[in-house]
Amino acid sequence: MVEKVFLCRDNELRESDMRQVAVAGLETKLVVYKVKGKVYITDALCTHGKAVLTDGDLEGTTIYCPLHGGGFDICTGKAASPPCTVPLKTYPAVVEGNDIFGLLG
Ligand code: FES
Repeated sequence: MVEKVFLCRDNELRESDMRQVAVAGLETKLVVYKVKGKVYITDALCTHGKAVLTDGDLEGTTIYCPLHGGGFDICTGKAASPPCTVPLKTYPAVVEGNDIFGLLG
């Protein structure tokens, strides 16, 4: 079942910003990104070695892991550069006024 969960305020995220968010009942934390005014949501841990992606670098819509430099496309979750091969989970984002929600499930 898909659940609409509040994650953060839109005005807390600047352009090319990312924020780690904990969600009650969810094992992994999530990351909310804003790129060119659009919001994206992914799991917070790299699928290669469980590094925290908010410690890495966001370049355009690619997040580069701080541990081994692998990359993921935050729009699709697809692994964008080695050593990452397993996709990163992504979630649809809904922006209502100043509130950002994730459709989780
Ligand atoms: Fe992220 Fe290895 S832990 S690339």
